[in-house]
Amino acid sequence: MQAIAITPRKPASARLIDAPLPELAAIPEGRGVRVKVLRVGVDGTDKELQAGLYGAPPPGCDYLIEGHESLGQVESVGPRVRDFAPGDLVVATVRRPGHSLYDLIGAQDFTTDDTYYERGINLLHGYLAEAYVESADYLVKIPPAIQNPAVMMEPFSIVQKGIAQAYAAQRRLHIWRPVRAAVTGAGSIGLLGTLALRLRGLDVVTFGLTTGPSLQARLLKDLGAVYVSTREMSLDDAAKKYGPFDLILEATGYSPMAFDAMRVLAKNGVLVWSSVTGGNRTTTVASDQINLEFVLGNKLLLGTVNASRGDFVRGVSDMALAEALYPGWLERLLTHSVAGLARYQDLFNTLMNSKDPDQIKVFCQVA
Ligand code: BGC
Ligand code: ZN
Repeated sequence: MQAIAITPRKPASARLIDAPLPELAAIPEGRGVRVKVLRVGVDGTDKELQAGLYGAPPPGCDYLIEGHESLGQVESVGPRVRDFAPGDLVVATVRRPGHSLYDLIGAQDFTTDDTYYERGINLLHGYLAEAYVESADYLVKIPPAIQNPAVMMEPFSIVQKGIAQAYAAQRRLHIWRPVRAAVTGAGSIGLLGTLALRLRGLDVVTFGLTTGPSLQARLLKDLGAVYVSTREMSLDDAAKKYGPFDLILEATGYSPMAFDAMRVLAKNGVLVWSSVTGGNRTTTVASDQINLEFVLGNKLLLGTVNASRGDFVRGVSDMALAEALYPGWLERLLTHSVAGLARYQDLFNTLMNSKDPDQIKVFCQVA
């Protein structure tokens, strides 16, 4: 079968390969599902993989099949699979168990191992191929009504985990009722995060860089959220007008913003950091002020990565709700489609070099 592979840690190594067709029998206990890939989205992690900064191939293999944001259709199932049937639409989770206690209880998104196993990223092949096999335990069924936006279920699961973690942690307060939220970053994660918070009834201010009319600004307005360009109004001024914020989701990919956000968090608030910043940037912070306000205000800072199958399942419910409340909104995020694995160069050019300010989600229409 055709697949898009890279040599991890080698810049611009993407190529089309002929990879072995995965066998159902490779999955233990008859729980295998073979999935025909329909669509695969790409994101900042794929940028880092393309730039040669991140990732590793499976042991004994000199290439890694890329892609971790998938949507596919079941082709065949093993003898002990009752939860999926041929024709079902499915999305696969990304991380697989390692060795820590968390991994052993199925909570590998909380692994304490230094090595983590992630399909299309680290040590396991991904989904940018004609097909893949996986255990039914790592698949989530997609209702046909959300077939089109479902290629964004993986990034949506990241948002779902961050928010679920924030609410779980805030049970420390017994009566926490967030009203005002902020999202820093207006890329896919920022927009999906704004959606999830609006679905929970919060007032949301979302911060981005673009000024003037833009697709991001229109999308946010259509959710009833407020868009602020930090080029026009500082975070602190915006907080005076709309804040302080009970919940902040940080998703800019720019670490100084993660620290800036600490200054605009409300008393008893929770700040969720979700940006994976692989560089080595440093910044100066108002440490006395932040420390004092965090202490006197009982504030919480929470880091989050990856997502569990449960977070994907919550994502499915939220996408269905979003289609009911904001019909067609999700599909407007799918701004750039590249047809066919053979056009992998277009796919990565669009991802890496686009100057289009309205670019939100780039994906490959595989089948
Ligand atoms: C993926 C996550 C993954 C993280 C770290 C993100 O792009 O969406 O599933 O855990 O990268 O590798
Ligand atoms: Zn990702």
